[in-house]
Amino acid sequence: MPSKSFELKNSSSGLTTSLPVRAGTLGPEVLDIASLYKEQGVFTFDPAFGATASCESKITYIDGDAGVLLYRGYPVEQLAEKSSFMEVAYLLINAELPTARQLEAFSHSISRHTMINESLLRFFNGFYHSAHPMAMVSAVVASMSAFYHDSMDIHDPRHREIFSHRIIAKLPSIAAAAHKHSVGQPFIYPNNELDYCSNLLNMFFAVPCEHYEVDPVAAKALDLLFILHADHEQNASTSTVRLAGSTGANPYAAISAGVSALWGPAHGGANEAVLSMLEQIGSVENIPKYLAMAKDRSSYFRLMGFGHRVYKNFDPRAKIIRETCHEVLHKLGDENNPLFELALRLEEIALQDEYFVSRKLYPNVDFYSGIIYSALGIPRSMFTVMFAIARTVGWVAHWLEMVSDPAMRIGRPRQLYTGPTRRDYVSVALRRG
Ligand code: SDX
Repeated sequence: MPSKSFELKNSSSGLTTSLPVRAGTLGPEVLDIASLYKEQGVFTFDPAFGATASCESKITYIDGDAGVLLYRGYPVEQLAEKSSFMEVAYLLINAELPTARQLEAFSHSISRHTMINESLLRFFNGFYHSAHPMAMVSAVVASMSAFYHDSMDIHDPRHREIFSHRIIAKLPSIAAAAHKHSVGQPFIYPNNELDYCSNLLNMFFAVPCEHYEVDPVAAKALDLLFILHADHEQNASTSTVRLAGSTGANPYAAISAGVSALWGPAHGGANEAVLSMLEQIGSVENIPKYLAMAKDRSSYFRLMGFGHRVYKNFDPRAKIIRETCHEVLHKLGDENNPLFELALRLEEIALQDEYFVSRKLYPNVDFYSGIIYSALGIPRSMFTVMFAIARTVGWVAHWLEMVSDPAMRIGRPRQLYTGPTRRDYVSVALRRG
């Protein structure tokens, strides 16, 4: 089939540049603009990258208009219903669903990397007791490169595999250590007899002085949330991991950069902000007042957990989490959870409001997730850490895809410069304030 191209004509010089069009397997085609600057002396301009494909990837596909999310081609709804977080982690990293033996070997390897170096554990004693867990997690993840020198050659496939298993295995232990530091309790070591999510809950909630039994309902709910948060193509934190990794920085540094980017309330920090917002709204009667604030451009108030750069339809993850809320709250005997009731009413009223409908603002993955985390007893300040644990799988998958590509180059965007033109230095004696 003849290759497609866009003919771009410069109206002042008359020069025409032919820009090749590339098609993927799904989704919009892309315009290859690599020759644009050389031939026409211009850059493209897309400050928030809303219309820019930053890379080629085979991992996750999103159709924002149709509300579709595929992990390596598998609909997230099917994975949520039939798979497990460990199996989804294997799929995202290795591109295929594992056989039973492959899954067993992968899960076993992960479970044998859950302990963290005792010196790294002592880092937590240095944090202020009220430090935000995301500050502790990003710092400790970055510090892992000071301990694991044996797995930092990004060109060695075995090093890449060891790093991948280590970071996925250790994030729950690091998260639990941050939580235990915050509550002044001793760290509970990982128990390799437990599955990934049960191990996390045990490290969070067990104490040395009595037996703790992990609630299988809670472990299953967490496993589902981790599946839904595992990857989401080139979101801000994943793009940060790719950009940091493109410099050849060690993988722990790249993942730590992703943790920091995720923290923002416009991104992964939204789940924590949703709970604060629901408590601020307080009752159904107050919803109209807060919706008015959300619509007022002069107000900083936003409807947290609503809206998305890509989804202009329901975020498929939000739908699944909303249904899970019903089930989990019922099983945990919390079916009349006031914040969940308020969230359901808020969604119903907002989706009848022209401002939200016209802007295609729907609940996103963060709108209901915090209600489940809360019901599991996870403190609000840990919600984004939960997101980071799950998204570490996606960050690792994208990092691996990028660094194993021989064509990898350092990412280095350009700019539209609107600052001062050239001018000469003036000595302080001659300056007029
Ligand atoms: C995540 O990228 C990903 O994939 C992220 C994520 C992932 O899995 O990695 O899906 C996870 O980060 C989900 C998003 C979590 N963030 C929030 O819930 C915070 C609240 N949402 C908004 O801040 C906002 O919707 C964003 C940041 C999510 C998207 O911002 P955009 O794409 O830049 O949209 P925009 O700000 O240009 O909004 C378009 C219009 C504007 O109004 P007008 O200028 O047309 O008058 O919609 C309005 C915005 O003011 N708007 C909102 C709103 N979100 C957008 N108004 C009120 N409340 C909101 N939540």
